Amino acid sequence: MMRYVEEFADMYEKALLMPLPQKAAFVGKGLVVVGMGGSAIAGDILRDCIEGVKVDVWRGYGLPSWLKEEPVIFVSYSGNTEETLSAFSAFVGTNAVAITSGGRLAELARARGIAVINVPGGLPPRASLPYLLFPALRMAERCGARVDGVEEAVKVLRESGDSESVKESVKGMAEALQGQVAIYCPPGFEGAARRMKTQLNENAKMHARWEAFPELHHNEIVGWENTKAPYSVIFIRDAKEHNRIRARIEFTKKLLQGKANIFEMWSRGESKIARVLSIVSQGDLLSVYLAQRRGVDPLPVKTIDLLKEHLAKV
Ligand code: PA5
Repeated sequence: MMRYVEEFADMYEKALLMPLPQKAAFVGKGLVVVGMGGSAIAGDILRDCIEGVKVDVWRGYGLPSWLKEEPVIFVSYSGNTEETLSAFSAFVGTNAVAITSGGRLAELARARGIAVINVPGGLPPRASLPYLLFPALRMAERCGARVDGVEEAVKVLRESGDSESVKESVKGMAEALQGQVAIYCPPGFEGAARRMKTQLNENAKMHARWEAFPELHHNEIVGWENTKAPYSVIFIRDAKEHNRIRARIEFTKKLLQGKANIFEMWSRGESKIARVLSIVSQGDLLSVYLAQRRGVDPLPVKTIDLLKEHLAKV
């Protein structure tokens, strides 16, 4: 898994060059991304990085009743995820694309004249994020989204991938984290926070949770009144965070003194996409260092495989 994390900048660069379907019908106000797990996260990150178009992410069977005329991006790395296939079966029309390495989704989409964006196969789904995200960004541009700073994002990822100080700081965090882990993010970094949580789950085989400011100040914060277990809280920080969010974060850090080990992970770069992806890459790295520290193999996700095998039989 470390190899994939280290190759992220290269993968984003390759993903920029991936051909997109020329003739795909893909029009409308807003868009919906359908997928699960390591595929759906591309939708959350897309939502946080673009402007001018509303993005909803649907995780589940069938399609939401609120879906109207919006174009849909079906994302399943394997192309065989049952919830995504169920959603695809419920979809009427051709105002959609499928992003996948193959599987049933590719077959079904082609049979219905829906464009397929083929991504390179043979990767763990969560390691294929660049190939799922960048084509989705480009499709979002077709329905009016503005995406600034994609090239800067790749540059920032390359620089931080090569930076010993970034690696040392993330490794230090992995060595110092104790107990339960909570990830708190400023608004607009929900996708990055969720990604960090799911990477800790799948790569480091551990529990983690995430919450966003300012909402966490209206509920989550009260839970600290009675917390006894050892805890670690990672604050995702952003140089452009709103000054009231900054005040809230500083207050929360003081409140948690003596209750939790506090860590900060700062975004890098100027554009929103660079800042979000810089957190994603540091979170990915953290999850692999944590796997090493915990003595687990980050690659296999045996429990997910077991569950999928079981569901295929019932
Ligand atoms: O990371 C993983 O392996 C999972 O979260 C998968 O992404 C998830 O089970 C969905 O599978 P797929 O991405 O192939 O649709």
